[in-house]
Amino acid sequence: PGTFGQNGMKLDFEPIAPVDAAVDAFVVPAGFTWVPILRWGDGLFPDSPAFDPAAQTPEAQARQFGYNNDYSAIQIDPDSDGNAAVLFANHEYVNPGIMFPPDMDQAVARAVARQAQGLSVVDLTRSGPEQPWQVNVDGEHNRRFLIETEYEFTGPAAGSSLLQTKDYPEGDRAQGTLGNCSGGLTPWGTLLSGEENFNTYFVSAAASEAEKRYGMLSEPTETGWEQDLERFDTRNEGYENEANRFGWIVEVDPWDPESTPVKHTAMGRFKHEGANVIVADDGHVVAYMGDDEKFDYLYKFVSKGTYQEGDREANKQLLTEGDLYVAQFAGTSDDEIDGSGALPEDGGFDGTGTWLPLVQEGKSQVSGFSVEEVLVNTRLAADAAGATKMDRCEDVEPSLTTGKVYVACTNNDERGVGGGAGPDEANPRTENRDGHVVELTEADGQTGTAFNWSLLLVCGDPAKNDSAYFSGFPADQVSPISCPDNVAFDSAGTLWISTDGAPSSIGYNDGLFKVTLEGEERGKVEQFLSVPVDAETCGPVIHDQDGSVFVSVQHPGEDGEYTAQRSAFPDYVDADGDGSFTLPRPAVVQVLRAEPSEQDA
Ligand code: FEO
Ligand code: CA
Ligand code: CA
Ligand code: CA
Repeated sequence: PGTFGQNGMKLDFEPIAPVDAAVDAFVVPAGFTWVPILRWGDGLFPDSPAFDPAAQTPEAQARQFGYNNDYSAIQIDPDSDGNAAVLFANHEYVNPGIMFPPDMDQAVARAVARQAQGLSVVDLTRSGPEQPWQVNVDGEHNRRFLIETEYEFTGPAAGSSLLQTKDYPEGDRAQGTLGNCSGGLTPWGTLLSGEENFNTYFVSAAASEAEKRYGMLSEPTETGWEQDLERFDTRNEGYENEANRFGWIVEVDPWDPESTPVKHTAMGRFKHEGANVIVADDGHVVAYMGDDEKFDYLYKFVSKGTYQEGDREANKQLLTEGDLYVAQFAGTSDDEIDGSGALPEDGGFDGTGTWLPLVQEGKSQVSGFSVEEVLVNTRLAADAAGATKMDRCEDVEPSLTTGKVYVACTNNDERGVGGGAGPDEANPRTENRDGHVVELTEADGQTGTAFNWSLLLVCGDPAKNDSAYFSGFPADQVSPISCPDNVAFDSAGTLWISTDGAPSSIGYNDGLFKVTLEGEERGKVEQFLSVPVDAETCGPVIHDQDGSVFVSVQHPGEDGEYTAQRSAFPDYVDADGDGSFTLPRPAVVQVLRAEPSEQDA
């Protein structure tokens, strides 16, 4: 009945045409509408001050939704009538040039910026199914995680001398979380979030092999926080290890506002894009994770313990102890890979792979590294193990329907040029500007060490790029797609991909795309929405049973200036009322049917 789609997926839509870059509009398919449910500066508590862009303070920002929300998750409250939910969002970074009036005191601006990062949890309510969600400022779960919020380290490296600082000589805790990018919802209802570009917040000696490998620099930072807080300059005595307290997977329990958030050392330290968990047949949980840097690696973690249905407290311990692996890919036609993206003679980019152990049964598997060294300087250990250098692994997510794992390799314009590694079958294009998506199938179960793989998509605009490949689906019948970043699944197991970077590669604004995985239409890409100028599409949540899709719209109008804004998203009104400019506000957007479906009305 109604507009219900195929294969149990309850969102049928006509794909939108790609939107030219620089268009400041949020575009959805015919029959759909959109509403911002939470913007930068919106109050999260009864006492939150109203957003006032001309008079921002750190105290106000600490009570408001942060900036540049990236990953988001929305869980319906199981104890409610279905019209209460809890939303989690992380706040990756800030864009001071468009956030703050140029005459603002710079120390105050930096203090506001610090409180605009971190994490948010907030309760939502709605009037019924297929209705817009609204923030409940009185919600019992509402919480901001700020730059001074304490996180407890778990796992083998907790307490390590590598994590000790003057303020935390026990090495058991960290303060704040930085560069949170993507994330994942666990089967036990907690949220994982990846600390990605943490290095950019620190000034360092940039002397050690590890500091260099993690991109630490000895120059002043863009955020300038080292001017305010000693710990952001690791050359200061007692703070040499401060940056080691970032670069982890964070786990937060949104259902318990008193809970202490944790950073899991057993899952390794790198520029974590995110982590997504699946329960294996034998009960162990497996987390897949990407290190988002050109020529860095794909990882997996296998828990020591097993999932206990209904025992949340036990399950919250699963990521504290287990085995850590890094991926090595082998192609079936290596000598045919010339970097052009032309398909190999055997018809596809595919092959086999091995999960190389870094830590197993509590012991280091890398010669010359202790367990603590493997976990804190994971990139160095993975280098030594011989992992395959990838084209920037962003979100990595297993399908809970099939167990297959989808790896978004967003792009790598240095593949095969300069000193970078040359093309291989898993990363087959030189100067890979459009990225690709790997489909990985575990060969010996989810916890095993062997896998098979193939490229599901070699991205691009097929009208302009012959190497764009859609698993054999006709290229003239797909939406152009470039720079895959976040992946998600709907209730039928269909893949959804959001993008980051399409304006500079194929000249269209970023968006959200549905990708058919099964049957004759495998590889068919259909664009669902497009985000405004300069923005990235993040954190897709597909509640097709409710006729809704949610996206995080990150950094709209990023290339503007405070007095020369490029975007007025999401309200498209003059924020200060004087007609001179409007201020873009990163936001979580709900897309829903313009008319509720017959069945649910
Ligand atoms: Fe923050 Fe890897 O994107
Ligand atoms: Ca990302
Ligand atoms: Ca981002
Ligand atoms: Ca990205």
